[in-house]
Amino acid sequence: MIVCAFALFIVRPCAATHMATSPENPQSPHNRRFHVGSALAPWGAHSMTPRTSVLIVDDEPAVRDLMSKWVESLGFQSRTASSSEEAIASLTSTDYDIAVIDVMMPGRNGLWLVGELRRNHPHTAVVLATGHVELLAGSSQPVADLLVKPFRRARFAQAVDRGREWRRRAVEEREWHERLSTELRDIVVSVMSELQQVRAANGSELDALVGMASQRIPDVAAHSERVARFCLSTSRELGVPPHDFGDIALAARFHDIGKIATPAALLTKPSPLTPGEAAIMRQHVNAGADILEQTAALKHVAPLVRASHEWFGGGGYPHKLAGARIPLASRLITVADAYDAMTQDRAYRGPLDSPEAVAELLRCTPSQFDPDVVCAFLTVLGRH
Ligand SMILES: [Fe+2]
Repeated sequence: MIVCAFALFIVRPCAATHMATSPENPQSPHNRRFHVGSALAPWGAHSMTPRTSVLIVDDEPAVRDLMSKWVESLGFQSRTASSSEEAIASLTSTDYDIAVIDVMMPGRNGLWLVGELRRNHPHTAVVLATGHVELLAGSSQPVADLLVKPFRRARFAQAVDRGREWRRRAVEEREWHERLSTELRDIVVSVMSELQQVRAANGSELDALVGMASQRIPDVAAHSERVARFCLSTSRELGVPPHDFGDIALAARFHDIGKIATPAALLTKPSPLTPGEAAIMRQHVNAGADILEQTAALKHVAPLVRASHEWFGGGGYPHKLAGARIPLASRLITVADAYDAMTQDRAYRGPLDSPEAVAELLRCTPSQFDPDVVCAFLTVLGRH
């Protein structure tokens, strides 16, 4: 066990997600408590069902029928349910644009129903309708609007409008993510086919990949070279056998090769990514490992790349490995990658200076980073 001279700086547990140490992570709006409105980004064409469909869920027949009449008078399609259970049954056969949901109902209450909708019908806009706003304390589900009973037709119409807008954005965001995912998969396939041609012509797969990376993602290629140098210096400090250096350097140089397949719209976005975009960005880890696995020259480092975004405490991806189950090369890459990413300029934020980046590394140790690797890394850093 290495005694770390910097250990005293670890004064609080790491509350940061990967956002703190990676360029590809968004500010998450999902950490908010109950809120009205949408965090969705406005993109693309308008996408609604031909005639907006509204599910009214309320146990009081008079209230239910009145809202249903209002929906029809607005020119939209209305269905009603007298309970959460009846609503769930209706949702099995119909995808509604909007659900207007009472909170206090016999059986499962409206907040339970909202949770079910968010899980299984994430693109249905929810409008809560209640006379008991205090019941919403502690609820964290995003909704399009909140109607406080009693309310008039004009306010109801406004809530339906907000629901339509929420739904429009949700559908557009889903379509945007589908386009991004398709683009990423298509690029992976084309890179693999290019490498196959190189192999067939007895060319160097490694040189071909380096060429593609420096052409398509020059910043990432330069970052990867720096990460490789950090990893080798740290390996020496840790006493890693020199015969392992080759694989460590290769894995570090290609740890971000999957970004070759990341859509340019994400790589060059001048603002933080949305949660959905960040999820697609995270696919670069598997994409890179999949590409390397298809090669003859680099397939042996594919597992090291696949584990290069795992966290020491188990909170990383893609497999939530922890501790020594993460290969040492991957743990080295995680530290060097985070430090280098933090100290580089980004379109949406300036670089941290070295002491700030070191403080962040320490703050996220051991939840994210291996303490022994961090100590060795800081020793190396201190010599420069
Ligand atoms: Fe990286």
